[in-house]
Amino acid sequence: MYIFAVETSCDDSAVAILEDSTVIAEIVYTQSIHAQHGGVVPEVASRQHLDILPKLAETCLKDAGLLSFNSIDVFAATAGPGLVGTLLVGLSFTKALAWSLCRPFLGINHLAAHLHTHYAKAGSIEFPAIALLVSGGHTCLLRMNSWADICLLGSTRDDAAGEAFDKTAKLIGLGYPGGQAIDKAAREGNATGVRLPSPLSNPALPEFSFSGLKTAVRMVWEKGVDMNDLCASFQKTVVDILVSKLLYQAKLAGAGTILAAGGVSANSLLRSELAKAASKNNLALHLPELKYTTDNAVMVGRAASAWMEYNPNSYSSLTCNAFARWQGTKLNTAVI
Ligand code: KG4
Ligand code: ZN
Repeated sequence: MYIFAVETSCDDSAVAILEDSTVIAEIVYTQSIHAQHGGVVPEVASRQHLDILPKLAETCLKDAGLLSFNSIDVFAATAGPGLVGTLLVGLSFTKALAWSLCRPFLGINHLAAHLHTHYAKAGSIEFPAIALLVSGGHTCLLRMNSWADICLLGSTRDDAAGEAFDKTAKLIGLGYPGGQAIDKAAREGNATGVRLPSPLSNPALPEFSFSGLKTAVRMVWEKGVDMNDLCASFQKTVVDILVSKLLYQAKLAGAGTILAAGGVSANSLLRSELAKAASKNNLALHLPELKYTTDNAVMVGRAASAWMEYNPNSYSSLTCNAFARWQGTKLNTAVI
């Protein structure tokens, strides 16, 4: 079954074609225009999606070796959470294709999609699994009982982990988005060089708070500290909190599997600390390939594929609308 998937929840325009959960063709266009503004400008992002999406779709179709959209069996697009204006572009584009070809459509939850980066039909993940979802917009711990039964254990009370990386990077002049730049600078620094608070660090509490950390960074930076030491200390503080909470929940659930997803799961210290923790505690660890840590359409296609495996013949209505936030405790993969 061929799935055509689209992602436009923020500043990445992405399209993929999958055969079930196997990638046939994929393209991501990252909108670099926002760097000059120090953050994503929603209106500019929407206009860029509108301009680029039809071109990406045509190219992806060619790359997949398909003659026309007629070969596609199911169309899927991110419905939210995200920027409503940017979501509407991808959603409307994909719904229009589905409608014109009389094919089913699936509106996909972006958070579920990040987790489905790890989905493969012949899947090797053992459940229950505890997932750490860390991106620019979200930081959550989730319990996965299966691909169709995912519940929220806790999330951030204020800033997301990626947001803390981005705000810290902007403050010390490393540009936007700054997660990768901090990761790089931290390699040259001493992680015990700058004393920073560790907010909500009790591992038993499945919630996070990173806005105080950002303020602490500002205060020490204004006093004058080594930039690399500050990056290393900040990164270690965030990573220690993320890893300890994930491990605690895995032990509590008696889970043998942990996984990470989202942009911050590209962080080199987070990946190495998770690997150490997994081997020490005899846990299976699943980390996404680096290209699938940030927003992409392959994860949307895999989420659609998993949804159809567990819910045959259940599709979204063409009235499916974009949504900015996800609230609740049960994470539904598709909007039905
Ligand atoms: O998942 P994503 O593409 O977008 C959202 O859904 O939010 O994540 C983007 C976030 C940004 O905040 C970016 O700074 C962060 O992921 N990021 C990193 C690294 N690479 C990207 N954070 C820390 N270390 C990295 N190497
Ligand atoms: Zn994302």
